[in-house]
Amino acid sequence: MDRYAVLGQPVGHSKSPRIHAAFAASLGQTLQYKAIEVAPDALAERLSALHAEGWAGFNLTVPHKQAGAALCESRSEAAEAAGAVNTLIRTATGWHGDNTDGAGLLRDLLANLGVTVKGKRVLVLGAGGAARGILAPLLAEGPAELAISNRNPWKPEEIAAALKPLGNIVPRTHLSLKGDRYDLILNATSAGHSGAIPRLPPKLFAEGGVAYDLNYGQAAVPFLVWAKGEGAARVSDGLGMLVEQAAEAFQRWRGVRPETAAVLAGLRG
Ligand code: ATR
Repeated sequence: MDRYAVLGQPVGHSKSPRIHAAFAASLGQTLQYKAIEVAPDALAERLSALHAEGWAGFNLTVPHKQAGAALCESRSEAAEAAGAVNTLIRTATGWHGDNTDGAGLLRDLLANLGVTVKGKRVLVLGAGGAARGILAPLLAEGPAELAISNRNPWKPEEIAAALKPLGNIVPRTHLSLKGDRYDLILNATSAGHSGAIPRLPPKLFAEGGVAYDLNYGQAAVPFLVWAKGEGAARVSDGLGMLVEQAAEAFQRWRGVRPETAAVLAGLRG
């Protein structure tokens, strides 16, 4: 039986085993998918040991996505653009690294939520690993403008300089956003994990504006409550992105993309 796992720390709360088990069941496939706790300084050794044991693939989650990229013997274009990997695919001699977070986000926005990115004014909050993973895929959709804003003002400058060839990406600071309006605001900060939100000026949502938090559960609550109070027409957490990035990973491993709607509904239920 092919063996897969998500590697992270902490990883006990991960929904990935449940999602992949549901995908496999829906397709009549038999596989094993576990959650394995791995400390950052043990990642390199564990990945080669698990390769020797014959495991078929892995998802990497916090805090391994960036370090894992350097441990792969090859990487997809998406992984190179993000500087991070969330999906490892077995090769004869090591691991091929891919990143399905951006594809998962776009699938949730475009297909599940019916949100358009093309021609829209889009704002990404945060400049850590989560933000870096979604910027190139968002730019590929052709927004009128992609602004990136962060508490530490230097990170957006660096990131925007690197991604400039891909589209209209503009580095901003939270306070300098005053007076601007956005059709879509994505929260890619980790502030919600401590019950906080970035300090933002009021009235950032254009008419019909959408708020999307890449986090889900309790961590998404502060930003989405703020967004509703600021007049966002629609708000969504990132549970759909989680399920869609998993479906993309499943497809890379198994050659078939599972249906996601029932699995997402089951997690929300
Ligand atoms: P991740 O991989 O989840 O992106 P990370 O790389 O540690 O995690 O990045 C966390 C992001 O959330 C950063 O953009 C961070 O801002 P700084 O670069 O200024 O540190 C942002 N962040 C975390 N807590 C925040 C808070 N309370 N207010 C605003 N931004 C916050």
